Amino acid sequence: MRPEHLELLACPECRGDLQLSPGAAMVEGRIERGELACVRCARRYPIQRFIPRFVPSENYAAGFGFEWLQHARTQYDSYTGVPVSEKRFFEETRWPRDLRGERMLEVGCGSGRFTEQAARTGAMVVSIDYSVAVEACHASNGRLPNVLVAQGDIYRLPVRFDFFDKLYCFGVLQHTPQPEQAFMALPRHLKPGGRLAVDVYKRNDSLRGHIGKLFGTKYFVRPLTRRMAPERLYRWVNAYVRGMWPVARVIHRIPRLGRWLNWRLLIADYRGVYPLKEEHLLEWAILDTFDMLSPRYDYPQTLETVRQWFARAGLEEVEVHYGYNGIEGRGRRPGPSVGG
Ligand SMILES: C[S@@+](CC[C@H](N)C(=O)[O-])C[C@H]1O[C@@H](n2cnc3c(N)ncnc32)[C@H](O)[C@@H]1O
Repeated sequence: MRPEHLELLACPECRGDLQLSPGAAMVEGRIERGELACVRCARRYPIQRFIPRFVPSENYAAGFGFEWLQHARTQYDSYTGVPVSEKRFFEETRWPRDLRGERMLEVGCGSGRFTEQAARTGAMVVSIDYSVAVEACHASNGRLPNVLVAQGDIYRLPVRFDFFDKLYCFGVLQHTPQPEQAFMALPRHLKPGGRLAVDVYKRNDSLRGHIGKLFGTKYFVRPLTRRMAPERLYRWVNAYVRGMWPVARVIHRIPRLGRWLNWRLLIADYRGVYPLKEEHLLEWAILDTFDMLSPRYDYPQTLETVRQWFARAGLEEVEVHYGYNGIEGRGRRPGPSVGG
């Protein structure tokens, strides 16, 4: 972080201002090591490797930390050369491409593939994650003057209330212990008139959905895999996906069913979905197979539930529908219009 980023942060416990304690180690205008102190409650938070830390590094999201350090660049457009994250970011948020002068908050940044896109809008972007994935996000985006990466918890975010023009949270809510409360913790950080975009895995409670669950291999094996040490599970997934890869290529050719079958066999098959090179398809498959088996929490939601969240949060101009990651939702905090 940089000293000028201090104004973006707030004590997650009492909402007081934070100040930099004397003796911080600086590198090229950035704070590499130091401590933030709350002027109100006197709590202290370390800055380690340029990242302010508001939570202990060992927490339920440790598997994600491991995953994103192993796959720090796998899903970056600047790595694959294919605009997958760019397309999703702008289609899901529906925000303009030029957001200079605005402040944007990203919750659950993971390796930071969307941070890369958000930063390109010119907005000041604060990207937060609970896990050590922040290290990966910082390595790719942390040198940009308009990016601040912090390690914090969605339930008690270390940023100001009533402050951001835009807030997005992709791929996160279903992986928190209480998704509704996690969602409810977001809008208060928006200015009146600020815009929110989230997505969440979908749950289908219809007869078709219940039949579909019978084929949901992921949910049959998760009771075992979610308890495994991430290193061990990753070794297993890596060997399994690599071993199955030639078979999956053949299965994929089965008309209509091929891709579906591969996912049932726990191979995250993006062939034909994204125009990625063969080696990138394999990397994505290893990453996403691990990603479906390892999270401690995985709570898909129905469309109706997500609509209720937006209504209870008092948001306006709400759109909730099936889309990226299952269900997408957008809304606006009541108040005068800000930005695009
Ligand atoms: C599936 S990853 C999605 C990462 C990124 N948004 C993406 O789509 O590439 C979910 C992320 O949510 C983070 N996460 C889980 N619980 C969280 C919490 N309580 N507060 C903040 N982040 C959390 C995890 O650490 C993980 O990096």
